[in-house]
Amino acid sequence: MAARSLSQYLSFDRVAGDYDATRFLPETVREAVVEQVFSTASLASKDWFVDAGVGTGRFALPIAHRGVNVLGVDVSRDMMLQLLRKSPPANLHLVQADLRSLPVRSQSVSAVLVAHVLHLIADWRRVLLECRRVLRRDGVLFLLYESGKRFPAREHYIHLAGERGLLRPTLGAQNADEALAFVREIGGAVTLIEHPSLQWQARRTHREVLQELEKRTYSQLWDVPDEAHRELMLQTLSYVREQFGSEDGVYATEASVNLYAVRF
Ligand SMILES: C[S@@+](CC[C@H](N)C(=O)[O-])C[C@H]1O[C@@H](n2cnc3c(N)ncnc32)[C@H](O)[C@@H]1O
Repeated sequence: MAARSLSQYLSFDRVAGDYDATRFLPETVREAVVEQVFSTASLASKDWFVDAGVGTGRFALPIAHRGVNVLGVDVSRDMMLQLLRKSPPANLHLVQADLRSLPVRSQSVSAVLVAHVLHLIADWRRVLLECRRVLRRDGVLFLLYESGKRFPAREHYIHLAGERGLLRPTLGAQNADEALAFVREIGGAVTLIEHPSLQWQARRTHREVLQELEKRTYSQLWDVPDEAHRELMLQTLSYVREQFGSEDGVYATEASVNLYAVRF
């Protein structure tokens, strides 16, 4: 039973077409992440960088454009097809594989990025062990989390869905702290990279947030049944109108990228 549940993970094939719209990161922040990754790991053009759970290439693309060799790994063919539509440079390579068994030689890469992935894989510890295996002695593992973006419509919908027991339980690591505790257990020294360029103000109209919710792209919402979803959307719309007058107003909220560098 335990072994069976450990084999589970969530491929993003089903939401590939909508993913980028719901994970918007300002260009300046993406560039700031790339800057921090390059300077922290002292990356040069001959080096190899693995984006573990590359998805649609939000980070792999700008990193590859800087000239380092990038290997993007993902189980989702459809997410990687979205990436290919963005005409990646020749130094960005893709492979469809499971992160629990990376198709990469031991101690061969300079850096690995794991962004928004560990909560999706029951056996997420295996992924971190694999990252440690493939890194060179002086290599750096980056764990990236986005926080903030607390838009009222989204918070309200998730609160209602939670009350009704409709949220999909997190399959993998529950949060960054749990992942970081394990990384330390296996010998990693963790540093949080703090820089003002990794913080920004996210701005969305309530209508835009409602449109995102409508698609149920967030993995937490994949199991909400259609009828319950329709009710929750109506309740959320009423809430927005009561609280803010209409769904057309812009709501601004603080957001940040929490980027951790790990050296083993
Ligand atoms: C939330 S997306 C993050 C994508 C990208 N890192 C980003 O930040 O935009 C998570 C990705 O992990 C992939 N994934 C989930 N389980 C996986 C596994 N066991 N092996 C490889 N990829 C996996 C999903 O298919 C999806 O593309």
